[in-house]
Amino acid sequence: MGILTEAMKQVIEEQRLGFVATACPDGTPNFSPKGTTAVCDDDHLIFADICSPATIANLRANPAIEINVVNVFGRSGYRFKGVAEILSDGQGFEQAIAFYKSRGSVTVISGKRRINAAVLVRVEQARPLISPAYDSGEDEEQITTRMKAYFDGVLARRNPALMRKAKTA
Ligand SMILES: Cc1cc2nc3c(=O)[nH]c(=O)nc-3n(C[C@H](O)[C@H](O)[C@H](O)COP(=O)(O)O)c2cc1C
Repeated sequence: MGILTEAMKQVIEEQRLGFVATACPDGTPNFSPKGTTAVCDDDHLIFADICSPATIANLRANPAIEINVVNVFGRSGYRFKGVAEILSDGQGFEQAIAFYKSRGSVTVISGKRRINAAVLVRVEQARPLISPAYDSGEDEEQITTRMKAYFDGVLARRNPALMRKAKTA
């Protein structure tokens, strides 16, 4: 059995957005989102380098990595620490491209930008993340309902016309 549980895999596959931390040579942190974050197998995550030069440069010097994946509605998720391998050609890279195509990745399919490399992460430590919102006694369903209402309000304020269309569609 691998380190990734079914619950972890579910959050990663649903959210697809991982926040990736690497270490810069001067010791400062580098942190950026990767919407291509996916489960590769029971011990590995993967994401695509499309426009992540600092992450890749850092990993070439130091493969240590942490990825956080969070369900923003349910206010929980996981943090994964591990070691990254950069696949920029060969069978592993081609398999990654095929995977993102089969998943319907807009970037790969549109062909407007290329995937420079796939980053394969061997997960060595996986820990849960839980918001202090749960301290209030609310359960996941209640928090999800409250957060959905909050984001609905944000979207409605940003784009009222779009929200009206969504309601009538
Ligand atoms: C929601 C979101 C998802 C993103 N997904 C990716 C991704 O999967 N791959 C990628 O290379 N860049 C992605 N980006 C863009 C990078 O995060 C961005 O170019 C960042 O500045 C790269 O920083 P870095 O060089 O420190 O990695 C995404 C940005 C956002 C806002």
